[in-house]
Amino acid sequence: MPTARRIVVEAHGGPEVLSLVSVDVPPPAAGEVTVRHSAIGFNFIDTYQRSGSYPLDLPSGLGFEAAGRVEAVGDSVIGIKVGDRVAYMNAGVGAYSELRNVPAAKLVVLPDNVSDEAAASLLFKGMTAQYLVRKTHAVQPGDLLLVHSAAGGVGQILTRWATALGATVIGTTSSPHKRDQALAAGAVAVIDTNDENWPEAFVKAAGGRKARVVYDAVGKDTLLKSLDCAAPFGLVVIYGAASGRAPAIDPELLNKKGCLFLTRPSVFPHNADPETFRANAADLFDAIGKGHVTVDIGARFPLEQVADAHRAAEARSVTGAIVITP
Ligand SMILES: NC(=O)c1ccc[n+]([C@@H]2O[C@H](COP(=O)([O-])OP(=O)(O)OC[C@H]3O[C@@H](n4cnc5c(N)ncnc54)[C@H](OP(=O)(O)O)[C@@H]3O)[C@@H](O)[C@H]2O)c1
Repeated sequence: MPTARRIVVEAHGGPEVLSLVSVDVPPPAAGEVTVRHSAIGFNFIDTYQRSGSYPLDLPSGLGFEAAGRVEAVGDSVIGIKVGDRVAYMNAGVGAYSELRNVPAAKLVVLPDNVSDEAAASLLFKGMTAQYLVRKTHAVQPGDLLLVHSAAGGVGQILTRWATALGATVIGTTSSPHKRDQALAAGAVAVIDTNDENWPEAFVKAAGGRKARVVYDAVGKDTLLKSLDCAAPFGLVVIYGAASGRAPAIDPELLNKKGCLFLTRPSVFPHNADPETFRANAADLFDAIGKGHVTVDIGARFPLEQVADAHRAAEARSVTGAIVITP
């Protein structure tokens, strides 16, 4: 039986709770395949699960996303064979490992133009951007959008894709270096959220207009002010909690702010069944092929130093995506 190095969380806490262990990997069960990872994606949600703000059943593996090669195939698996290059973004926590068994239904076979590292750095984030620009709001030419953390992993992809669809994106970031990254991703202007009057700065940069859609994954620090940036009947999308959970909102406040719509979506229900997941992934790969989505890898960390990846992300010091190498 092969063995694999794997990160385990024994107790919720800071990055120091991430420990490296060696485990046996049994042959794949029916419907499963064994994937040898070549690149593992870091996502901010991993920090919520490590800290316990999104609790795990402990002890637990960590990580939702990886790419690699199929090493063994269980019974009744159709359409995936040994040697295929594959990736996944929702096969249960445990992607922080060299080798693991995953349900074949959760895998997508990678096209030639998407490298393993690109897949691991953008499948989860790109599938998030995919539903945000296609389903949460079908982005149209001329839409004015506010994208928070526009230099971040999801933020850069969302900014590029929405811009390619003809929208005008104004981003927010928290540092001059990130500002340049957000502009490079297509934002026409970037607002510094260190300025407490940033909603006014946004409206000024937009020439007095407000946003058709505000995409906010910062949460606690930004949501109430994000409501001031949406046009009447506009949509505020709260899809993350990088600064902590967003406050509860009295529905009457949405009336006062302009009959706004507020939604809290997630990538998982948008890709719950294999057919929808693969169709959405095909849409993402098509956008990559057209150059509408590109990969910006901001940092790489070996598996044994994954705690440093968490520290860097929580310190807001990285732009673009973080990749973990097994
Ligand atoms: N609902 C979904 O389907 C879904 C799926 C994927 C990701 N997400 C969410 O999308 C967000 C981005 O995810 P990501 O993996 O691409 O991460 P990321 O954008 O690379 O990192 C998070 C960013 O949040 C900003 N931020 C603001 N306040 C922060 C704080 N107190 N601590 C740390 N960061 C803070 C930082 O950008 P600035 O310094 O520029 O503000 C930071 O770069 C996360 O909130 C994540 O949970 C949601």
